[in-house]
Amino acid sequence: MATMMNKRVSGSVGKQLPARARVAAVRPSRSSVRVSASAAPAEVDELGFKKMRSGVKVAAEESLLTPRFYTTDFDEMERMFSLEINKNLNMEEFDAMLAEFKTDYNQTHFVRNNTFKDAAKNIQGPARKIFVEFLERSCTAEFSGFLLYKELGRRLKPINPVVAEIFTLMSRDEARHAGFLNKALSDFDLALDLGFLTKNRTYTYFKPKFIIYATYLSEKIGYWRYISIYRHLQRNPDNQLYPLFEYFENWCQDENRHGDFFTAVLKSQPNMIDDWVAKLWSRFFCLSVYITMYLNDHQRSAFYESLGLQTTQFNQHVIIETNKSTERIFPAVPDVENPEFFRRMDELVKLNNKVVEIGTWNVPAPIKLLARAPYVERMVAEIFQVFIMTPKDTGSVDFDANPSAVVY
Ligand SMILES: [Fe+2]
Ligand SMILES: [Fe+2]
Repeated sequence: MATMMNKRVSGSVGKQLPARARVAAVRPSRSSVRVSASAAPAEVDELGFKKMRSGVKVAAEESLLTPRFYTTDFDEMERMFSLEINKNLNMEEFDAMLAEFKTDYNQTHFVRNNTFKDAAKNIQGPARKIFVEFLERSCTAEFSGFLLYKELGRRLKPINPVVAEIFTLMSRDEARHAGFLNKALSDFDLALDLGFLTKNRTYTYFKPKFIIYATYLSEKIGYWRYISIYRHLQRNPDNQLYPLFEYFENWCQDENRHGDFFTAVLKSQPNMIDDWVAKLWSRFFCLSVYITMYLNDHQRSAFYESLGLQTTQFNQHVIIETNKSTERIFPAVPDVENPEFFRRMDELVKLNNKVVEIGTWNVPAPIKLLARAPYVERMVAEIFQVFIMTPKDTGSVDFDANPSAVVY
């Protein structure tokens, strides 16, 4: 990963809808941007959430496991999608995809009804807090996609208008998703100021090829998470605590289409799927995404249990299904159906719980650091063991001598 640097930017912006957030104003190029929080003392509500002002929540602090905003090398992205430079771009496939995105199947899907506010009122106590945290994490992740796709759409327009328009239409979808989640947060009187976040949150730099692996996976895992929650609640309507989940069936089809677009992108970049380096990175990104979700969700079991889901079973199902989708295009994936895989993942959860628990101790930071060290060391060792497990050689794309002929 390239060097990241921090930069301070002052000022704040008013509350804005995601579609109006001005990405161009940020465009952090190969850097990270961090800004100090608002100087005004934050008000704290009865759940312990800090507010920037009435009805607007201060965003949760960023950590290794929280959703991030990304930036990349846009010049390299331009070269990857240049029709003059990259003869592997299958424009027939991209044209067909663009037609599908233009159809806009979910144009009228994200319309709220009057059951939302009452349902929010009925969620009280600890469930209310974990609901808000779930909504915030989801909103931030969706908004992150919006920002990245919007900027890619803008930058690629003169280079490859078809691919650029697909990115722009995907940013439309993500803006709807983020906006819908933010409206849900406003039912709890804790909306996010997405314009403020656009300007003030840290942007993590990833090389273009890493952005593509990571976004492919996040779209596919997003699809499997949404559809699994949706199907579970269809079978168990008594657990349908809040109407948001009723929208997941069509919503997840957006994520599936986004993932399929990245499949086409991967096919246009043979070096990302056809050699041993690609295999290593494929496994690395699969494991990063699976481990992050597994640890995150197990820290928030109460949320999944409030919906009647078993966190471990739900996570394992999502990982197995995402892996099955991913193995159609990635050249290697972890063998998640080997019993050793989830045995080690469960061990990681136990170690992580211990690290989190030490974090709550009322002792000086250096003591916490020392107490955590043996657990962190064991976590690193477990992750390494998972990484060296025999992977599955996968992928179904073959490149012959003529690089423009792609057979799959
Ligand atoms: Fe989305
Ligand atoms: Fe998406």
